[in-house]
Amino acid sequence: MKRIFSGIQPTGEIHLGNYVGAIRNWVYLTEEYDCIFCVVDYHAITVEYEIDELKKRTLETALILLACGLSPEKCKMFVQSHVREHTELAWIFNCVTPIGELERMTQFKDKSRQHRANINIGLMGYPVLQAADILVYKAGYVPVGEDQVQHVELSREVARKFNAKYGDIFPEPQVILSMAPKILGVDGTNKMSKTLNNYIGLLEDKDSMWEKLRTAVTDVNRVRRKDPGNPEVCNVYTIHRAFSPNETLLEIDKGCRTASIGCIDCKKTLFSNMMAELDPIREKAVSLNNNIDYVIDVLKTGADTCRAIAAETMDEVRKTIGLFM
Ligand code: TRP
Repeated sequence: MKRIFSGIQPTGEIHLGNYVGAIRNWVYLTEEYDCIFCVVDYHAITVEYEIDELKKRTLETALILLACGLSPEKCKMFVQSHVREHTELAWIFNCVTPIGELERMTQFKDKSRQHRANINIGLMGYPVLQAADILVYKAGYVPVGEDQVQHVELSREVARKFNAKYGDIFPEPQVILSMAPKILGVDGTNKMSKTLNNYIGLLEDKDSMWEKLRTAVTDVNRVRRKDPGNPEVCNVYTIHRAFSPNETLLEIDKGCRTASIGCIDCKKTLFSNMMAELDPIREKAVSLNNNIDYVIDVLKTGADTCRAIAAETMDEVRKTIGLFM
């Protein structure tokens, strides 16, 4: 079975963008691939973070993955720092990765701009650790969003550089791009993100979810109720595409273009379809929260299984690079 690896940062508040763009797709992939999913806490400390919150958010992120339908019977799930081999391999990869490649990374440039006072080596080496995450399991496929494609390409380059210097050990991993439409934030302009505070949280209070959707930016050219709208440029319509069946989409499209429905009508239909899918997830999250030892146990078992795989790779790597063992 082909192996997949993907990671998610422990931001805690998982939002609609994460769900539609990544997690929902991961659930499908577990049917056909040997999947490893990881809560990447060592990536999270490359920028300023709340020390007292990290632990809570790590656990909450894992809880949400389980609530969304990932199950330990169908995939492996664990916390990055529980398998020390990731950071060990990252060090070795540091020694084959040209600095110039890392300086070119768009995410590094963006984050350097956002965190001017803390441009640390870890932030720059972020993609090297990501390469280690993937390659320590020799995973061939990496399901990510558009914004991570450059990092997966770097992983390929790291694998190539390592193999050229030491011999063929690592595959060159390929991206699996999610086919889901990219959901923007409620501002209708930027990618949905916690940092930009334009998100709708998966486990947020229902009233607050509705309030955010109710006031979300639609087609900016549709000013009055009687103006016809254009679904193609409307982020709310994009969210519809993620949650509503085809016949609803056709109705909404027509209603919007002819102004026979208003934006609030459209949003009400969306909210009801969205909640039909999210309610069971939200209920599952509550029940997992009451049984948190189960979540901890899943992560422990996942780490044990993955550590065994990673340890094998590391033995091979240590030998290959000439360490005294
Ligand atoms: N950088 C990824 C993100 O922010 C998270 C991540 C870390 C990851 N390691 C990974 C994704 C390995 C795929 C594979 O979304």
